[in-house]
Amino acid sequence: MDTVAVNGINLAYTRRGKGNPLVLVHGFPLDSSSWSEIIPFLEDRFDLILPDLRGFGRSTTVESPYTVSDMADDLAGLLDHLGIEKAALAGHSMGGYVALAFAKKHPHRINGLGLVSSQAAADATEGKERRYKTAADVAEKGVSVVVEAMTQKLSADVRVQEFVRGVIERQSKQAVIGALKAMAEREDSTPILSSFNFPLLLIHGDTDQLIPMDRAKEIKSINPSARLLELNGAGHMPMMEFARQTADGLMFFAE
Ligand code: MLT
Repeated sequence: MDTVAVNGINLAYTRRGKGNPLVLVHGFPLDSSSWSEIIPFLEDRFDLILPDLRGFGRSTTVESPYTVSDMADDLAGLLDHLGIEKAALAGHSMGGYVALAFAKKHPHRINGLGLVSSQAAADATEGKERRYKTAADVAEKGVSVVVEAMTQKLSADVRVQEFVRGVIERQSKQAVIGALKAMAEREDSTPILSSFNFPLLLIHGDTDQLIPMDRAKEIKSINPSARLLELNGAGHMPMMEFARQTADGLMFFAE
């Protein structure tokens, strides 16, 4: 992994393959290793850029509160560092929120947007309150709180559960708390969906227990030109549960 200094943090990333630049943005509370299993299917066609979002994996963080839009700016700084003007971005869940914030702030730098198990709407009041409660619990008891709350919801596949448990346990309290607050305060991205002048791809599992498939269908109803890949039998981790099919879906950005 390499690191680059951007926006007061050291952002860690991996770069693999050759082709059109494709940034794969991981979800919460994971890191770029969540994409490992699909890299072999994509690296012949893409210049893959796999960042650890601030605080996660090997990236450092800041003490002060930050937003999903700040996380998107970190990615813009990474692309600057790599000399890449435009890229496709595919974000998994929270990574999708970051990709949407990037599309809002840096629309001229994006030539494709993928939302994997994600959504465009902001949190309703209850969801927001739940995040602050979880953040307080993590501050008191540690990341085991989210390990217990999320592992089984991320996937019904025991192999995937074991993997994500290990990844979550490695994350710092500070990263988990910072991201929970950033997600709670994120803006509704629904209003920008119909303004996209680049291809929009939606990949969603029909047994996702964290973000239901209906969220992807709502996006498609607002932007009917979006391509929706429905994965029957996939939960919230399609890049592991259905790696080949998820990679085939992402080939949309190589067309
Ligand atoms: C994720 O997988 O990134 C999270 O479940 C997203 C969320 O909590 O909204």
